Amino acid sequence: MSGHPLLEIKDLYVQFNVYGGALKVLDGVNIEVHPGEKVGLVGETGAGKTTTMKAVLHVLPEPAAQITGGEILFDGQDILKMVPSQLKQIRGKGIAMIFQDPTLALNPVFTVGEQMSAVVQYSMEAGRNLTKREVRERSITTLKEVSLADPERLLGNYPIQLSGGMRQRICIAMALAARPKLLIADEPGTSLDVTIQDQVLRLLDELVEKRNTAIILITHSLGVVRERTDRVYVMYAGNIVENAPTTQLYSRSFHPYTQGLMAAVPKLTGGGVSDGIPGRMPAYLNPPQGCRFSPRCPRVMEICRGEKPMLREASPGHQVACFLYPRGNELEINTKWNVSSGG
Ligand SMILES: Nc1ncnc2c1ncn2[C@@H]1O[C@H](COP(=O)(O)OP(=O)(O)OP(=O)(O)O)[C@@H](O)[C@H]1O
Ligand SMILES: [Mg+2]
Repeated sequence: MSGHPLLEIKDLYVQFNVYGGALKVLDGVNIEVHPGEKVGLVGETGAGKTTTMKAVLHVLPEPAAQITGGEILFDGQDILKMVPSQLKQIRGKGIAMIFQDPTLALNPVFTVGEQMSAVVQYSMEAGRNLTKREVRERSITTLKEVSLADPERLLGNYPIQLSGGMRQRICIAMALAARPKLLIADEPGTSLDVTIQDQVLRLLDELVEKRNTAIILITHSLGVVRERTDRVYVMYAGNIVENAPTTQLYSRSFHPYTQGLMAAVPKLTGGGVSDGIPGRMPAYLNPPQGCRFSPRCPRVMEICRGEKPMLREASPGHQVACFLYPRGNELEINTKWNVSSGG
């Protein structure tokens, strides 16, 4: 893609220092997001998706978490080198995040109105304090934008009085109130039932489309990113293993891990729910040498156990970190996965 990226994560390393040693979680992560682009970040539980985004927002739990290498550029400036006042500018107006569980994101002891007014005050560049009336009006407009009925009454409610779907919409309203350039949505709606989750995702689509907001959509599900993103990053055990335009990834994925994820997408027809890829994610205390996927990979070769494959272009715009694909050589390799299915 042309132009300069809005967000550039370059060779990011993060570890958690715990009793007994260091969990080496992020192992050289590279992600680029362009203005207005919709990017999916997909991987199994524990892959490091949330850790990556917490690093971007500078909210990793310290002192346990330690960034041991890399750069995170937002609009060309390194977030990791910013002082608190610069960070404050980035959060909200630059980057906003929606968390998986809306009950955690909202404070139970304040009304919706009280929580919204803080965000609204901050988001409007009036250069003065807004009047109570202005804050209230702006809060109501913001709630209307996320299709919540009766916003006047909602402002007086406590989070506990609302359904999960309503709380999620309020979180979206608050995240978008400051008109961020980049929205990070971490598994939005997974704690809700499927129909509501779908409504929430549709609402997000509409809002970011209307404002040309870039979005990073984090999910376990390749199904969710399929219709909603332009480009997908596949993450495994702290590494980006594949990165491609969404349509290309679906028509032809390269990495054996991605191919396994594709095989594990529950089929709508034919019954049966997939159990996923055999084996599990390695321990971060002592991760495998070489390719971190090698212990689980049906195509593993000698080199994979000793050397780490770098992310590189296998076909135009399509990168893969796997020794099956020598540079510039467009091979089509299909891994036969034996994904058990319960039906
Ligand atoms: N606060 C922490 N202290 C110690 N280790 C942590 C901490 N947070 C994360 N980790 C480690 O980082 C790994 C990756 O966690 P992360 O939450 O980034 O995964 P994820 O891809 O977001 O998973 P999920 O899909 O379940 O949300 C975890 O398996 C854990 O080992
Ligand atoms: Mg997570």
